[in-house]
Order: sequence, then structure tokens, then C-alpha cells
Amino acid sequence: MERRIVITGACGQLGRALNQVLKERCDLTVINTDMGEPTAYCPIILDITNSVAVMNLVQDVNPEIIINCAAHTAVDLCESDRERAYQINATGPKNLAAAADAMDAKLIHISTDYVFDGEGNTPYTEDAVPNPKSVYGTTKLAGEEFVKSLCKKYNIVRTAWLYGEGKNFVKAMLALAEKNSEIKVVNDQYGSPTSALELARAIAFLIDKDDSGIYHGTCEGRTSWYEFAIEIFRLAGKKVVVKPITTEEYPTPARRPKYSVLENKKLKEAGYTMKHWKEALKEYMEQYKIGR
Ligand SMILES: NC(=O)c1ccc[n+]([C@@H]2O[C@H](COP(=O)([O-])OP(=O)(O)OC[C@H]3O[C@@H](n4cnc5c(N)ncnc54)[C@H](OP(=O)(O)O)[C@@H]3O)[C@@H](O)[C@H]2O)c1
Repeated sequence: MERRIVITGACGQLGRALNQVLKERCDLTVINTDMGEPTAYCPIILDITNSVAVMNLVQDVNPEIIINCAAHTAVDLCESDRERAYQINATGPKNLAAAADAMDAKLIHISTDYVFDGEGNTPYTEDAVPNPKSVYGTTKLAGEEFVKSLCKKYNIVRTAWLYGEGKNFVKAMLALAEKNSEIKVVNDQYGSPTSALELARAIAFLIDKDDSGIYHGTCEGRTSWYEFAIEIFRLAGKKVVVKPITTEEYPTPARRPKYSVLENKKLKEAGYTMKHWKEALKEYMEQYKIGR
């Protein structure tokens, strides 16, 4: 029987990576949806904040799985754009959860390390208690709560420091290096840079599991933004001076967790291990010929 998968936010970094991974799977038909103009890649316009449009689409397509990659991901902008952030990050998943449940579909919803306050110094497992400190984190947590309460079949997959096809830290660093011989990067926030492709592979693994619950999905290892930048320039062969600075020296509208390393406890228990962040970064830069 044909297994249909609806992807929302399909034009974003993760949506594109999922398409790359799932095209290998001849048992699955992927239906891409996003905002903006329809294209051959993404023929269906779906605003996840529109409950009627979401329900109609899910009833028409009758998918086995919905993967929600749509989000308001501009963390600093969310601070001044609270209403829109809530609409996209909380009401959107609420609409998808209700529609998925009505059609007995599984919802795979993507969330973030920023649901944690980052005050600790050991990795967060899936059962750690969230305590977001930013509008982005708060609205993403509200989205998680709707998914958990409205949908019988779901996975919430928390990831972090994502990069793929789109705007991201890797490209931002390389763009800065084009214009500056010295770059200052924050060295007191720790996390796990995660390639969208690696995350998409882990999600493809979850597609075939029939349990519900939260998973953490980040590349192995931990680092700071500063060390991440150093590795990007090393792989790109760029000669640039990178200076470590503190969070206080680089104030931003949104407060970010100091330590938001996630432990993929449940994925590992299920027999799945994601690549180390350095290996995944090398793969990404080679694949997209970035930096050379
Ligand atoms: N990026 C990160 O560092 C990071 C870290 C942790 C977790 N995550 C989570 O990972 C997931 C994927 O992130 P990503 O980096 O792939 O995001 P992304 O590149 O920003 O893509 C998000 C997509 O969602 C679309 N979108 C926005 N509002 C929408 C709406 N109302 N209805 C339908 N689509 C809408 C966006 O369209 P427009 O571009 O037109 O707005 C964009 O195509 C998100 O849940 C995010 O919260 C990301």
C-alpha cells in the first residue's frame, strides 16, 4: 500500500534534507507543503496557522505521517514578534496535531534545545524538565504540549544548532570571513551542531517505528560556537583570526541557553546513533562544496 508523507515547511533546511533522504525510499510518496509561491518541488501552499486549511489538506491527502518542519526560527526576531511566533510555533503544531489525530496519522514534530534553560552542565535527556528563557523556546514548548495532548500517534524530535540548505551559522561564518580578517565568536555557550541531513536520516528511522514520545536528535559531541567556527574555517582552508568572546560581550535580544547539549538517549536505546558533529560538518561542506 502507498504510504503518503506530508512535509510542512518543506522549503526550509530540514524539509530539503528530508526530501534528499526520503527520495531513496520507493515505499513512500512525499507531499511537500510550505508558504510562498507553488513550485515543482513544493506544489502545495499550506499555512500551518490556518486550522481549516490544515484539516482540509490532511483529509484530502490522508497521509500515514505528517512531518512538521515549519517554524518561526528567527530566535531574536521572535522576541519582538511574539504573536506571530506563537501562531507558527504553537498554534501551527496544534492544528497539525488535531488534523493528524482526526485522520489517525502520526505527527513527527520538530522542536529545539532552547526549551531548556541551559543552567546545568550535563546533557539533557528526553525526560529532563524544560524551562525556556526566550520567546522562541517558550512558543516551541507550547507547540510540544499541544502535540502531546491532542495527538495519539506522535514523535517530538528536539534538535539543535541546525545547518543545511538555507541560512545558517556555517554560511554566516564563511560570509564574515570574506570581509574580515578577524572574527569574534561566543565561547561560553555549548551545544551540538547538527547537520540537517543527519537529522533527516534519524527521522527516516523514526518513520518506521510505531511508538509515541519525545526523542532528542543531535549530532554526537559538544562544542562552543567559537570551536565550531574554528572547525568550519579549518575545513574550508580559510586563514582568519578567530577571537573567543563571552555572551555578555555579544548581547542579543533573545537569551540563549549556556549549555544545551542534548543526549539522544532514546534513539541510542532504539539502536540508532547519529554521526559526530565534526564528521557531519565535513560531509556537509564537501557535499555542498562550501568554503573551497
Ligand atoms: N535552525 C536551527 O538552528 C534549529 C535549531 C533547533 C531546532 N530547530 C527546529 O528545526 C525545525 C526545522 O528548522 P529549519 O532550520 O529547517 O527551519 P527553516 O529553514 O527556517 O524553515 C522553516 C520553514 O517553515 C516555513 N514556514 C514559516 N511559517 C510557516 C507557516 N505559518 N506555515 C507553513 N510554513 C511556514 C518557512 O517559510 P519562510 O522561509 O517563507 O518563512 C520555512 O520554509 C524547526 O522546527 C525548528 O524550530 C531549528
